[in-house]
Amino acid sequence: MPDLPLQLRLQTGARPFRIRRGLVRCEQKGGNALNAKKSAQLVYRAGSLKDTQLLAARLAKLAVPGTLIVLDGDLGAGKTAFSQAFAKALDVNDQVNSPTFTIIKEYAGRLPFYHMDVYRLSLDEADELGLDEYFFGEGVTLVEWGSLIEELLPESRLHLYMETVNLEERQIYIHGQGEPYKAWTADLKENGV
Ligand SMILES: Nc1ncnc2c1ncn2[C@@H]1O[C@H](COP(=O)(O)OP(=O)(O)O)[C@@H](O)[C@H]1O
Ligand SMILES: [Mg+2]
Repeated sequence: MPDLPLQLRLQTGARPFRIRRGLVRCEQKGGNALNAKKSAQLVYRAGSLKDTQLLAARLAKLAVPGTLIVLDGDLGAGKTAFSQAFAKALDVNDQVNSPTFTIIKEYAGRLPFYHMDVYRLSLDEADELGLDEYFFGEGVTLVEWGSLIEELLPESRLHLYMETVNLEERQIYIHGQGEPYKAWTADLKENGV
């Protein structure tokens, strides 16, 4: 990979980073994401992909400009599958792909939809991107592996920690931090998905 500035590397859509800092990342991954899991106000059991899609569609209906949803959980837990269903419910017509290598993708829908995957970014690199423009913009942001950049996230946000139970089943730990996210989780708790 040539040594291009970060923005340019993102524009080319090329795989921007080599394997990095395995150990540090692992500790961090465990730490922040598991905190979100532990402080969950609600656990949603998705018996199938369809159930995950229902939760995504339900939350997409609540979305307003500036909505931020952080998605954590191991590879294959369903973060991208959730994002695809969320986008569909937000009236995004384009195909939503995993943003693992592009880092950020922007789509047009009922609201602009910003889909990020920050797994490959160091905190400094993420900081350079000026993510606040997205977080506080006109659209809705979903960040896969978002807890890796917890320090850069606004206080108010919804955390979903997705855990694989078996091939079809997932446990989704939901934690609303600040408003309106606390109200969202209370609503889900009371009225279901
Ligand atoms: N209940 C479920 N929720 C989400 N995904 C599921 C579920 N059951 C099976 N899957 C499958 O698991 C895979 C999840 O992959 P993906 O969304 O790319 O994970 P991640 O982005 O977390 O790495 C998809 O192939 C999806 O169809
Ligand atoms: Mg993914």
